[in-house]
Amino acid sequence: MQRLPKIGGVLIAALLPLHSFAACNAATASISGFPPCDALIQAGFGDRLLFPTSPEYQPRLASYFALNSQLHPWCIVQPQDKKDVAKVMTTLFKAGRGAGDWHIAVRAGGHNLFHTNNIDTGVTIDLVNMNETTYDTGTNLASIEPGAKWLNVYEKLHEHGVVVTGGRDGTVGVGGFLLGGGLTYYMGQQGLACDNIKNFEVVLTNGTVVDANAEQNSDLWKALKGGGSNFGIVTRFDMEALPDKDLAYGLRIMPANYTSEFLDAVVYFTDHYQEFNTDALVPFLMHEPDLPVDFVLAAIQVNTEGDQNSTGLSKIAQIPQISSAQPDETNLLPLVKVANSSTIFPPGWIGQSTVTFKNDRRILARATELYEQYVHNLTQAVGADNFTTLIFYQPFPSLIGDISGQKGGNMLGLDDQTDNAILWTGFVSVSSGPSGLALAQLWMSVMVTELKSYAASLGDGDRLVYMNYADPSQDPISSYGKTNIDHIRRVAAEYDPAGLFQMRVPGGFKISRVDV
Ligand SMILES: Cc1cc2nc3c(=O)[nH]c(=O)nc-3n(C[C@H](O)[C@H](O)[C@H](O)COP(=O)(O)OP(=O)(O)OC[C@H]3O[C@@H](n4cnc5c(N)ncnc54)[C@H](O)[C@@H]3O)c2cc1C
Ligand SMILES: *[C@@H]1O[C@H](CO)[C@@H](O)[C@H](O)[C@H]1NC(C)=O
Ligand SMILES: *[C@@H]1O[C@H](CO)[C@@H](O)[C@H](O)[C@H]1NC(C)=O
Ligand SMILES: *[C@@H]1O[C@H](CO)[C@@H](O)[C@H](O)[C@H]1NC(C)=O
Ligand SMILES: *[C@@H]1O[C@H](CO)[C@@H](O)[C@H](O)[C@H]1NC(C)=O
Ligand SMILES: *[C@@H]1O[C@H](CO)[C@@H](O)[C@H](O)[C@H]1NC(C)=O
Ligand SMILES: *[C@@H]1O[C@H](CO)[C@@H](O)[C@H](O)[C@H]1NC(C)=O
Ligand SMILES: *[C@@H]1O[C@H](CO)[C@@H](O)[C@H](O)[C@H]1NC(C)=O
Repeated sequence: MQRLPKIGGVLIAALLPLHSFAACNAATASISGFPPCDALIQAGFGDRLLFPTSPEYQPRLASYFALNSQLHPWCIVQPQDKKDVAKVMTTLFKAGRGAGDWHIAVRAGGHNLFHTNNIDTGVTIDLVNMNETTYDTGTNLASIEPGAKWLNVYEKLHEHGVVVTGGRDGTVGVGGFLLGGGLTYYMGQQGLACDNIKNFEVVLTNGTVVDANAEQNSDLWKALKGGGSNFGIVTRFDMEALPDKDLAYGLRIMPANYTSEFLDAVVYFTDHYQEFNTDALVPFLMHEPDLPVDFVLAAIQVNTEGDQNSTGLSKIAQIPQISSAQPDETNLLPLVKVANSSTIFPPGWIGQSTVTFKNDRRILARATELYEQYVHNLTQAVGADNFTTLIFYQPFPSLIGDISGQKGGNMLGLDDQTDNAILWTGFVSVSSGPSGLALAQLWMSVMVTELKSYAASLGDGDRLVYMNYADPSQDPISSYGKTNIDHIRRVAAEYDPAGLFQMRVPGGFKISRVDV
C-alpha cells in the first residue's frame, strides 16, 4: 500500500470520499472529478465513456449536423443496449440532483439544433451504438433502434424488399424524427411516420423497460406519437413495413421569375392531394453561395408507385427548369438511393423555424416577398457567399389527419384541421459565425410572426408548430390542442412520477414548461 502524505496531521485519505478512493485503485478506471462521470465509471461504464481527452470525443462532436450543437459535455456515454440505457439513467439520476448545475442530454441522429441533443455542463447519452435494424416477415414489422440514420435503415430493409415511412434525407436520425411526428414521401397514403409505429420499447427513468402499443400501455403509445422527449428513452421502434417499390424521383430547379406559376402549382397540388395521394411534392425556395441569382424555386417530386408522369405533378413539370440544372426527367430509384441523393445542406451555424397556415395563395405570396427581404437582409449583413437558406412550402392537407386518426391517432392535433394547409419551414446555415446566425434567427422569427399575423388577418387560426422544425423559442406542444396537451401531461406524470425527464433532461420541448 502506497504511503499517503499527511497535511496538518490529517491523512489525505480521510478527506477523500471513499468511492473515489476505491475507483483509484480499480484496475482500469480513474476519476474525472465530475460526479456524474465518476458515477458512470463506478457503475462499470468506464469503457463506454468519452472524455475530452479521448480520441473519439472530437469526432463525435463533429458528427452533429450543426456547429451550434457541438457543445462540449463533461463526458459522453455510449450505451450498447436497453440494459445499459437503464443503468446509465438510474446511475445518473442517483448521482446528485443536479447541484453544480449539471444536467443530461440525449442524442440520437444529432440532426436537431442548439442544446436539444447536447449539453455543455453535464453528460450526453449518445445512442450511436444502438443502430440495428431487423425485419420480421411474419409480422411485417421492422424493428429499428434510435441511433440509426435513415440511410442505414433503408440499406438493411432493402435486402428484405421492404421500406418504412422514414426520413426523406438519409442523414437524418431515427430517434428524434419519429418522436416529433415525421413527414415522409408516403404521407398521402400512410399519414405521418409515427402513425406507422406499432410498438415502442421505452426505458423509463426508474430503469424499468416497457412496451407501448395499442394493447399495452396504450396511453404511452399514443403520447409518444409526436409527444417528443418527455417520457423516457425509446430504445426500439417497431414499424409496419411497406413494399420497396422504386420511386419516381425528380428534383426541379426553376428561375425565380416563375414564382406565380410555382405558387399556383403548390396551391393546386395541396388542394388535390387526395386524388394524387401516391405523389409527394416538396417545394422550396433556395439561396446558396454558388448561385448567380438571389434565389431559385425548387421542388422535389416523387411518385411512390413509380409513375414517372403523374398528373398531380404536371403543373410543376410545366415550369421551365434552369438550363444548367439536371436533365428534365424523373428517375426510378429505390428509397435507399433517393435518400442518399437528396440535397446536402452545408455545415454551418444553423437555425430553423416553422409555422402552418391555410392553403391560400395570398399567404404564400406574402411568404415569398418576406423571403426576398430575408435574403436581401442577410446578404447585406453577412455577405451573399456566407449563407445558405431554404424555405419549404410543404403541402399539408387535412387528409393526413384523417389517416392518423384511422391508425390510432397521434398528439399533433390534426383531427381538428378540417381544411388544407401549408407547413412553412425556414432553414438557414451561416458560415461566417454565431453572430451571423443570431441575425438570421431574429429575421426568421420576424418572418414567422408576420406570416402568422397576415394569416390571422385572413381569418386563419393558430395551427400546428411542427416540433421537428421548431426553433427553441417556439412552443410546439402548445399548438397540439388542449386534449393532447392534457394527455401528454398525464402520461408524463404517470410514467415518470418524479419528473426526472422534465427536470434533468432539459433538451427538446418539455410538457412541464407548457402553460396551456
Ligand atoms: C437535412 C435535414 C432533413 C430533414 N428532413 C426531414 C424530413 O424529411 N421530415 C421530417 O419530418 N423532418 C425532417 N428533418 C427534421 C428532423 O426530423 C429533426 O431534426 C429530428 O429531430 C432529427 O432526429 P435525430 O434523431 O437526428 O435528432 P437528435 O437531434 O438526436 O434528437 C432530437 C430530439 O429528440 C430527442 N431524442 C432522440 N432520440 C430519442 C430517444 N430515443 N428517446 C428519447 N428522446 C430522444 C433528443 O434528446 C432531442 O431532444 C430534417 C432535418 C434536417 C436537418
Ligand atoms: C453502429 O453501432 C456499432 C456498435 O454497436 C458501431 O460499431 C457502428 O459504428 C455503428 N454504425 C454507425 C453507422 O454509426
Ligand atoms: C425568366 O427568366 C429566364 C432567364 O433566367 C428567361 O429565359 C425567361 O424568358 C423568363 N421568363 C419569364 C416568364 O419572365
Ligand atoms: C406524359 O404525359 C404527357 C401528356 O399527358 C405525354 O405527352 C408524355 O409523352 C408522357 N410521358 C411519359 C414518359 O409517359
Ligand atoms: C450513397 O452514396 C455514396 C456516394 O455516392 C456511395 O458511396 C454509397 O455507396 C451510397 N450508399 C448507398 C446505401 O446507396
Ligand atoms: C429586414 O430588415 C429590416 C431592417 O432591419 C427589418 O425591418 C425587416 O423586418 C427584415 N425583414 C426580414 C424578413 O428579414
Ligand atoms: C464572409 O465571412 C468571412 C468570414 O467571417 C468574412 O471574412 C467575409 O468578409 C464575409 N463576406 C462578406 C461579403 O461579408
Ligand atoms: C417504474 O415506474 C413505472 C411507472 O411509474 C412503474 O409502473 C414501475 O412499477 C416502476 N418500477 C420500479 C421497479 O419501481
